[in-house]
Amino acid sequence: MQVPYSYGELISSAEKARWQIDDLLPRGATFDFRRPFLPEPLSPSDVLADPCELLLLNQIRAHAYLGIIGLIEEFILPFVLDHARPAALADEERTRALIGFAGEEAKHVQLFRRYRATFVGGFGVPCGLIGPAETLVRRILAEPPLGVALMVLHAEWMTQRHWLDCAEQAETLEPRFAALLRHHWAEEAQHARLDSNMVAELGATLSGAEVLDCVDAYLRIVLLLDGALRRQAELDLDSFERAVRRRLTPAGREQFLERQLALNRQVYLLSGMTHPRVLASLEALHPYARGRVEAAAATLV
Ligand SMILES: [Fe+2]
Ligand SMILES: [Fe+2]
Repeated sequence: MQVPYSYGELISSAEKARWQIDDLLPRGATFDFRRPFLPEPLSPSDVLADPCELLLLNQIRAHAYLGIIGLIEEFILPFVLDHARPAALADEERTRALIGFAGEEAKHVQLFRRYRATFVGGFGVPCGLIGPAETLVRRILAEPPLGVALMVLHAEWMTQRHWLDCAEQAETLEPRFAALLRHHWAEEAQHARLDSNMVAELGATLSGAEVLDCVDAYLRIVLLLDGALRRQAELDLDSFERAVRRRLTPAGREQFLERQLALNRQVYLLSGMTHPRVLASLEALHPYARGRVEAAAATLV
């Protein structure tokens, strides 16, 4: 079938974009905890008045970022391998491109784990993280392949937004964290194109009704992640109270949770669901697909 992007061209652009984990974070390297890790849109500065507390919250949110994106990588890896396997010998360029994609995601899993271990070693206060990843990964992979492929597409384009959010401020951020956002997107840019091909290939085998069922499956994954993001906001609140060594009032806790959940939805869900390239792929799949996702996105605002 005709796919949106040539596999041969995707292989060469992926080779040009490729980097090594040690380029970003050599073993034994440390972070500069005097600086914020996340840019303003990912951790806004109007949530707290005290600059020291604001910095700690920014870093706690950065720790959660490493865990959440790392978790997303963990379902992408087996999913891409499964997609490559059935026609592995029929089209060698497609197979090479998909195996390269899977190899990069395996590298990203390792990268995010190394960043998290470095963070934990330097931050000094234990920070909670949703999980176990295997349970979420199993539930996501139980959905039909096109539903999962749409979530993967969402995740790839979302990382573009995160880098664009960071680009202007990159000089002021913790340099290794800014480099993570930049380099991650450089490889995700190739994956986003490969995943557009996966979405098109999977969609071509299904009836219109089946495609819409898969859009619903994608939205179930979004809801599953929404529950996980709510839990992460609670864990971040506990980490914050440990870091600042005081408990917020019940009203302060409620306000904190509400704001952090809204932010998490913006950063991890709406950024993908409303991305123009995700919406374009949905439109190409089925005339009702885009509207269905836009209506679901409106309920998360
Ligand atoms: Fe990745
Ligand atoms: Fe990716």
